[in-house]
Amino acid sequence: MTIDTEEWEVLVNRKRSAEDLRSHRWYGVQDLRSFGHRSRTKQMGYATEDYRGKPVIGIINTWSDINPCHAHFRVRAEEVKRGVWQAGGFPVELPAMSLSEPFQKPSTMLYRNFLAMETEELLRSHPLDGVVLMGGCDKTTPALLMGAITMDLPAIFVPAGPMLRGTWRGQTLGSGSDVWKYWDEKRAGVISEREWEEIENGIARSPGHCMTMGTASTMTSAAEALGMTLPGASSIPAADSNHARMASMSGRRVVEMVFEDLKPSDVLTEGAYDDAVTTVLALGGSTNAVIHLIAMARRSGVPLSLDRFDEMSRSVPVLANIRPSGEFLMEDFYYAGGLRGLFIRLKAALNLGRPTVSGRTFGENVAGAEVFRDEVIRSLEDPIHPEGGLAVLRGNLAPDGCVIKHSAADPRLLRHAGPAVVFDGYDELARRVNDPSLEVDESSVLVLRGAGPLGAPGMPEWGMLPIPEKLLRKGVRDMVRISDARMSGTAYGTCVLHVAPESHAGGPLALVRTGDLVELDVPNRRLELLVDEAELERRRAAWEPPKPYYGRGYGAMFARHATQANEGCDFDFLAEGPPVPEPEIH
Ligand code: FES
Repeated sequence: MTIDTEEWEVLVNRKRSAEDLRSHRWYGVQDLRSFGHRSRTKQMGYATEDYRGKPVIGIINTWSDINPCHAHFRVRAEEVKRGVWQAGGFPVELPAMSLSEPFQKPSTMLYRNFLAMETEELLRSHPLDGVVLMGGCDKTTPALLMGAITMDLPAIFVPAGPMLRGTWRGQTLGSGSDVWKYWDEKRAGVISEREWEEIENGIARSPGHCMTMGTASTMTSAAEALGMTLPGASSIPAADSNHARMASMSGRRVVEMVFEDLKPSDVLTEGAYDDAVTTVLALGGSTNAVIHLIAMARRSGVPLSLDRFDEMSRSVPVLANIRPSGEFLMEDFYYAGGLRGLFIRLKAALNLGRPTVSGRTFGENVAGAEVFRDEVIRSLEDPIHPEGGLAVLRGNLAPDGCVIKHSAADPRLLRHAGPAVVFDGYDELARRVNDPSLEVDESSVLVLRGAGPLGAPGMPEWGMLPIPEKLLRKGVRDMVRISDARMSGTAYGTCVLHVAPESHAGGPLALVRTGDLVELDVPNRRLELLVDEAELERRRAAWEPPKPYYGRGYGAMFARHATQANEGCDFDFLAEGPPVPEPEIH
């Protein structure tokens, strides 16, 4: 599959002239301030001809030396600039927080709203007419889009693209999924230290985000389904030369979008969000998408709820045969036809008439797409799972809901009742879970609390609780696990996640005791703590709220303003409120 420039050429419907540009207020008027803006632009080596009357295009680049998923973004930003220059724009690159999933602690989720706020304010405070958003590593995609949605300047998203397949001794390795798998094999004594080191050398071979259907692939695909990328952009591997060409095309296209005045609010309709949910479900995508899409939809004024995910999940089959729900990786998906191939299969369920950043409708973007390998992108008649991969559960243990990726769970456990083994926070889990004296067997339900948005804090991806070593040695590879945490999209198992309200906020998870019977019933969407209400009331009365984790700084702000998982974990003051006025230029 290649990227065909001709195919994307559209007639630019110019609604705006140079004088209408937002940047004209900085550059075009004749006063003391604009003299400063022009002379300072010249200080950087640009001539008047470089910027006069041209749309100023911000390139928000989440490159950093410590984000391997964005290692190619320095070069890609130059390729975006090439496109902007070619189309008659003036590119300016603005660095932003990189949200490096493997390195940033306690969790990049703590900082998603930080990048969203940074994006919004970068756009607002600079003389920008349009923006290219460069992201891909997990939270960067929703964060950049959330900020751009609120600021509502013409915006196009350049996804980082997946890294190449991992390899080890002739086998294919997938990010995350195979780390957990072989870590369990190592703990069970099945593979050696040397083999484990070989896996370390072979699992991440190129720039790009995780190449399983983790949060990164899920959210970049969702961005494309929303209509915020050029057609086919999200599936191109980072190392493929098509990726560089897609970057420069995006630069060219955003200049046209400025003259067309095509903004996120024109693209991100209710139909667009429904199509993003359909796509996530058909991909067997990450549970994290639930939180992020709800947060993004709220910014767009679209009422997307947990229940909408569940409703759609009952009719959308999983078609993408990608790990952890399936067997292939994103590189295979690209060669098999990529996301446009999946869209062709889902065509009847999609809203094809809506606008996208390409300047064409979603249906026009998809037209002509083909599937080249049916085993990678399955047909509707031969799905991986007949239902979508996500289920939303409720019950007295999760009154505001929780989610499970049942396509990645052991089917035998989807209806299960067992005694709880409770861990208060990750430190206690790490200390006790492998203790040979821990009273646990394969019927137990492992419960982790204090791991939610406020409790952890930042809702880390601790939701795939480790199986106790003594059970691993007996051959146990899955158990029911429940938490108020999130789970990596590359993880798997019978893990109930995002329990809301979280325990730190006084949710019922705070009341569970070791030995209590917990019942999971995915077919009926229930999660119940089988303890009578009078006893729960006694425990509730005795419960004391934990002390705040942060006394100052960004963490304290997060604790005061982050909403619960079912509401998208956005800051209350970012999700709502009156429009912020344009800055005065004095
Ligand atoms: Fe960046 Fe997985 S670590 S996407």
